[in-house]
Amino acid sequence: MRKPYLAGNWKMNLDRRSAIELAIALREGVGERTDVDVGVAPPFVYLDAVLQALDSSPIWVGAQNVADQDSGAFTGEISAAMLADLGVDFTIIGHSERRHVYGETDDQVNTKVHRALEVGLEVILCVGETLEEREAKSTEKVVRTHLTRGLEGVSADDMDRVTIAYEPVWAIGTGLTATPEQAGEVHEYLRGLVSGLYDEGIAGKIRIQYGGSVKPGNVAELMAVPDVDGALVGGASLQPELFLPIVGFQD
Ligand code: 13P
Repeated sequence: MRKPYLAGNWKMNLDRRSAIELAIALREGVGERTDVDVGVAPPFVYLDAVLQALDSSPIWVGAQNVADQDSGAFTGEISAAMLADLGVDFTIIGHSERRHVYGETDDQVNTKVHRALEVGLEVILCVGETLEEREAKSTEKVVRTHLTRGLEGVSADDMDRVTIAYEPVWAIGTGLTATPEQAGEVHEYLRGLVSGLYDEGIAGKIRIQYGGSVKPGNVAELMAVPDVDGALVGGASLQPELFLPIVGFQD
């Protein structure tokens, strides 16, 4: 019922040439397949080049972050309108590296979600707990705050442009993956929250990706979990020989 959505977050990696080469390899590997949605989020400076490389491809191109301001004297920031103007399809918002390394707050995350939706972008809203928070048994509280604060004021109509990514911080880039059971519990909880905030119809439609050390060897078991609708992939999205088998997990 929900089409799988596999997205690659390239983070601060690659150079211009290798970003274009990766995009071309993905374009060729993904072809015209329509059984899954595929997205890539290159660094800002390579967005234009990757958009051109993927011009004739169904692969969506996204940013990894967006400014919480419209325009003006905000040195170093990139606005949602600029991304839309470039032809970008989506933006990741509230990634744990933004929250924990750069101190992004739930307020900022929420403002960014509004900025992106206002200009027609799709959003991948990231939520997830640290190891400390999991050990303190506050996973549900943390993801509830991330989700409810992140979506504050977002209309039911706009929810069809929102994807949620559950990314347990302890599983990102560590080689540790949440077990299918652990992921399933949180995904089910998140879907229930969306149902409470909106309604069952919206909760049934929204896609919830899992992120954290997703690899070709574990993607199928994660995707087999009923509430896991996709993956947000970091390290393994940088190599076509790893990302394409993730995209083709059903093959
Ligand atoms: P890794 O797949 O490298 O663990 O990164 C996950 C992630 O943060 C995707 O946004």
